[in-house]
Amino acid sequence: MGVFSSSTKIVPNISDVPRHVAIIMDGNGRWAKKRFLPRFAGHTRGVETVREIVRLCLERRIKYLTLFAFSSENWRRPPEEVGLLMQLFVRALRGEVSKLARNGVRLRIIGDLSRFDPELQELISVSEEQTAKCDKLTLTIAANYGGRWDILQAVNRLVESQPEKAGKWDEEDLAQHLAMSFAPEPDLFIRTGGEERISNFLLWQLAYTELYFTDTLWPEFGAVAFDKALSSFRARERRFGRTSEQLVPTKEEGDQLVGSGTTGNVKTDA
Ligand code: IPE
Ligand code: IPE
Ligand code: MG
Repeated sequence: MGVFSSSTKIVPNISDVPRHVAIIMDGNGRWAKKRFLPRFAGHTRGVETVREIVRLCLERRIKYLTLFAFSSENWRRPPEEVGLLMQLFVRALRGEVSKLARNGVRLRIIGDLSRFDPELQELISVSEEQTAKCDKLTLTIAANYGGRWDILQAVNRLVESQPEKAGKWDEEDLAQHLAMSFAPEPDLFIRTGGEERISNFLLWQLAYTELYFTDTLWPEFGAVAFDKALSSFRARERRFGRTSEQLVPTKEEGDQLVGSGTTGNVKTDA
């Protein structure tokens, strides 16, 4: 059994502040182009936005922040850009990890790390260890990550670990092998940069996530834009398959209102 239940099996606890925000940080290249700068300048500037959003998540008491930094398809970019992105990743890890640890931020990296330089792989594991005891916020960076890769590697591990249960595996069996089994499913997904697609991000985990798309380019995404996404989230009615009427408790049941606190925390199975 995983630590967190599946949103398709049990209606999860919800609240006004998302527990887990997952972001596709898009638009760095266009930000740079608008300024007649090389694309890489946009990526460098994007790291500053990451710092700001981490700070805001701590302030807003969001427990999990997951950022898509490099997709399994981004290897298709020109080799110079890929090389520069790897260097930026290394530089950010070297420069930021102590600060993350001081602020109580646990760092996790998900994705197929085997394709990275051994030196980078080592740096990743050292960085994760250095923050392993932090528990204010879990910052997960998805690097060489793909949603299909994730599901497949989980299936492969499931085949190895529970072959006798083949044909009878349930969602929990699979979910515990997914790269993000340590976190609840995202409550809020944000994609900056104007595109309205998932681009092979957390395919399994986004089943009941609220989706938010904004034209704001990642380097320009700051407190105002982030809070706009959070207030859009607060206004959503998360039904998880039920009707609106089912979410409004009758007078006898109490005075919970839709959108307040843990509205509609009803177990549907088990
Ligand atoms: C997102 O910005 C960062 C990565 C994918 C590494 P882009 O580089 O995709 O920026 P645009 O989409 O070209 O503007
Ligand atoms: C998605 O951005 C991946 C990351 C932000 C790391 P892309 O800019 O690569 O996405 P597509 O290819 O345009 O969908
Ligand atoms: Mg892009």
